[in-house]
Order: sequence, then structure tokens, then C-alpha cells
Amino acid sequence: MLEQLEQFASDNYSGMCPEVLDALISANQGSSPAYGNDQWTEKAANAFRELFEIDCEVFFVFNGTAANSLALATLCQSYHSVIAHEVAHVETDECGAPEFFSNGSKLLLSPGENGKLTPEGIAKIVTKRQDIHYPKPKVISLTQATELGTVYQVDELKAIKSVADQYQLKIHMDGARFANAVVALGRSPAEITWRSGVDILCFSGTKNGMAMGEAVIFFDRTLAEDFAYRCKQAGQLASKMRFIAAPWLGLLHQDTWLKNARHANECARYLATQLAAIPQLRLMFPTEVNGVFVQMPEEVIYQLREKGWLFYNFIGVGGIRLMCSWATTGERIDELVADIKAILGI
Ligand SMILES: Cc1ncc(COP(=O)(O)O)c(C=O)c1O
Repeated sequence: MLEQLEQFASDNYSGMCPEVLDALISANQGSSPAYGNDQWTEKAANAFRELFEIDCEVFFVFNGTAANSLALATLCQSYHSVIAHEVAHVETDECGAPEFFSNGSKLLLSPGENGKLTPEGIAKIVTKRQDIHYPKPKVISLTQATELGTVYQVDELKAIKSVADQYQLKIHMDGARFANAVVALGRSPAEITWRSGVDILCFSGTKNGMAMGEAVIFFDRTLAEDFAYRCKQAGQLASKMRFIAAPWLGLLHQDTWLKNARHANECARYLATQLAAIPQLRLMFPTEVNGVFVQMPEEVIYQLREKGWLFYNFIGVGGIRLMCSWATTGERIDELVADIKAILGI
């Protein structure tokens, strides 16, 4: 049977939003120069410059692992290290790609409440050792919104920027859910990136309604030197670039990206509110964007799966992650909550 019902396993499960599909169809006219020399790629890059209020350098790659890995590789020599949260996607879910593409730059991990690095945690790693035997810390990698569905507030970003300045560290931002963070914070994209010290942002289109595609945005153009070669060598230079660039026009035009993210965040809040009212369940983290993390009895998890619900429980025993997207519906949330209640007999 074809799987058509919206699920809560990942925001990657949803299809393309209509605006993206329209943009893709418009780009499918006749022939166009390859490898990014087309009008859609230029327009999309300019749209980012307008959005971020800066003359940034923009590259389009296929997925988030490549975006993060190539961005980090650009910032590091092989003997450098990257400070990341212990649950960061770059550490847990990229199969060592950041280390691979940087020829061995080591990830140094820090704990932190709600998936967030702290200035103290960062300083502890930097000052732990300063001898030649320790890989020299060079970059802080922040995930905004975090893997645990929370967001760094502007003052937290600024505090991290201070510690970055103190120790001459660059800042990379994994923006797999950057759109959701912008909506949650109600701040401008510029304010929560380069105005807060971010050097490179990997901005995901995939989770916001595209079929695939991430924009790697360099706020300091000098860092982008030779990045095009990195993309090509890594197999990330799309020959028909217009088809990963044009969908961005669909998202950025008339703030569709914000509409999609707002919808996903509101769905998560609606789901979290209902789950919080069930005594046998426990929300694990504040629901600040589009993910709800909840502990429930193993038997409930088992029976939900038996009923055909798909979700991940990789975050620890008893805890599951429920993700909402631009395509989530209130009806599916109500169905899920009704099934949970029925299993619990309430
Ligand atoms: C925090 C985070 N970063 C990056 C990614 C991108 O991963 P992918 O390489 O699957 O596009 C994801 C996808 O799940 C993610 O959750």
C-alpha cells in the first residue's frame, strides 16, 4: 500500500509544498545554462542577499550533511577541532562526514541543557588543553533550532559570540530548522545570524517544503574562496542547478518559508498541549519549534507502532520524537492523541 497519511517521524517525510512545486515547474522551461549559471540560481542567491540584508555568498547543495560538512571543512585545517553539542546532528547523524571532508578535524563535544551549547561549556573545552597534542579548537557549531526542539535566544547567541571572540573561534550554524527558529524568535534572519556572529549558515529547504536542497550562506565572503571547488569535489555541484535553486524562490517569495514554519510550530504546540494533559506522559523539553519530545510507557509506544504510527525513539529509553511539518494536519494530531488515549484507556 502506498503510504500517504502524514506521519510524525520526521519533517522529511512530507512532500513538496505547492509553492515549491510551482517554482519547479516554472524553472522547467526549455534549456538553461548548467552548473549554476542560470537565471534561477542568480535570482535565488539575490533573494537570500535581500532576506539577510547583506551581500552574502550563496551556494546550493543537495543535503544537510554535505552543507554542514563542507562548511566545517572550509573553516578548519585537519588539525583543528569543532566544538559541538553532544546531540548535534554533525556528531550523531552524519556518519563522520564532517571529519571526512575536513580530512580529520575532530569534533569536541559539550553537554548543555535542552540541546544548547553554553559559553561556559565552550570555554571549558578550549581551556582544557592548549598544548600541541590537542586538536586546536577553531569552530563552534550551533544548531538553530536545536535537535531537541529548542531555540537559542539572541542573548544566548551573543554570549556565545563573546566567547568565540575571546578564543578566535568561527561560528557555523546548522539551520536544518532555521525557518522554525526565525518564527519562534520573531527576530529577523540577519539578527540571529551574522549580527549575532554567525559566519556560515546551512539553511535547509528540505525540511521547509522542498524536495531537496540546502543553501550554504557565507556572511563573510572571504571565507567562501574555493568553496565551489569543495562542492564539485564532493559531488555537490548540481549540473541542473536551476532545479535546486528555483524551489527557493517558491519558498522565499511572499514568505512561504515563514508560513510553512509557523504552521509546523503551531501544530507542535497544539500536539504538545494535548500530550501534556495526559498524566501518564511527560514532555521532555520545551516545545519551542516543530518537535515534541515525550516519554510514554513502552507498551504505548509498541501499540502505537502496531496501529501504523511512525516515529523515532532514538533519543533515549521511553522517549519518542514527534515532528510536525508544513503538511501536518490538526486531524492527524487528533487521531494520534485519540489513539494514545485509547491505548491508555482514558
Ligand atoms: C539538525 C539537523 N541537521 C542536518 C540535517 C540534514 O541531514 P540530511 O543530510 O539528511 O539532509 C538534519 C536532518 O535530519 C537535522 O535534523
